[in-house]
Amino acid sequence: SLAPLDSTKLKITRVQTPSKPRPNEELVFGKTFTDHMLTIQWDATKGWYDPEIKPYAPFTLDPSSIVFHYAFELFEGLKAYRTADNKITMFRPDMNMRRMNKSASRICLPNFDSDELIKMIGTLIEQDKHLVPEGNGYSLYIRPTMIGTDAGLGVSVPSKAMIFVILSPVGPYYPTGFKAVKLEATDYAVRAWPGGCGDKKLGANYAPCVLPQSQAASRGYQQNLWLFGPEKNITEVGTMNAFFVLKDTNTGKKEITTAPLDGTILEGVTRDSILTLARERLDPKEWIINERYCSIKEIAEASEKGNLVEAFGAGTAAVVSPIKEIGWNDQHINVPLLPGEQSGPLTKEIASWISDIQYGRVQHSNWVKV
Ligand code: COI
Repeated sequence: SLAPLDSTKLKITRVQTPSKPRPNEELVFGKTFTDHMLTIQWDATKGWYDPEIKPYAPFTLDPSSIVFHYAFELFEGLKAYRTADNKITMFRPDMNMRRMNKSASRICLPNFDSDELIKMIGTLIEQDKHLVPEGNGYSLYIRPTMIGTDAGLGVSVPSKAMIFVILSPVGPYYPTGFKAVKLEATDYAVRAWPGGCGDKKLGANYAPCVLPQSQAASRGYQQNLWLFGPEKNITEVGTMNAFFVLKDTNTGKKEITTAPLDGTILEGVTRDSILTLARERLDPKEWIINERYCSIKEIAEASEKGNLVEAFGAGTAAVVSPIKEIGWNDQHINVPLLPGEQSGPLTKEIASWISDIQYGRVQHSNWVKV
């Protein structure tokens, strides 16, 4: 029988001299890593074996390893926070583990027991807890990764795999902090499509988006607003889920929309958290919350009529990223911002709802794991 993932088998080898934390202002997203990493091996005949925490270092793989040739790779992104009372917590890690198993299934990599991996990540963070930064906007970005490691150029179901987890102390995703971005509505390139795997966190979904992103950048836009189909439905923004706030002319209420999870949309943890909090906290007499398709034409029309209220992206890395302008053919769709500020009022409120929970100032059911 195959060995399940088992945190009691974890072997720990510590660095001789722990490193010193860098000052917050030197933390650039994903550029520095902590002293230790977690690696776990899998073999189709044995199951999971050799879970190990050891000094952060390069590892060796055969050049024919399937990860290098056929993109047997998936990853996750979640964060740990230093709370006001100096505890280290993880935000909704169960959600990331569930999604990681779904991504693995899609490319025939093995599943694992979520709670066991969360425990081992907890032990990893424990080794490097002095490197978890303190302060609003600062956290420890956790990057669990799974790769197929079979040596050989045959395209088939992997029989060898590896999980590794690395940790990066981070500050705000954008060096400028909370700053509204300009988007280029993109229809000449497509991020995800029906029957594809755009809802999974596969590395292969990210590399092809960098060329359209750099093309948008050359025209003065930070990110792509990804459109799909003849309807030009808005799917995502850059690597984030997209939210729009519209005035509903029939009811006079305000509507919050984001694309439905139809298989082309990444099942964002921040997306889910925002929808949950909005449904719990906003007065239904004033607000409508909808997971529905929204086209760029609808946004352009709403803007012309003064019914476009706010827009933002939502993801783990940047959490909430306000949008100030969308370029669509030769139109410039402007999104209103609070006077002298970098976001609209709801965007700001939602960002503080999430950070209050993440930094332990407000409790929410079982979202925070100590
Ligand atoms: C996000 O958190 O928005 C991400 O998708 C992670 C990013 C660094 C690829």
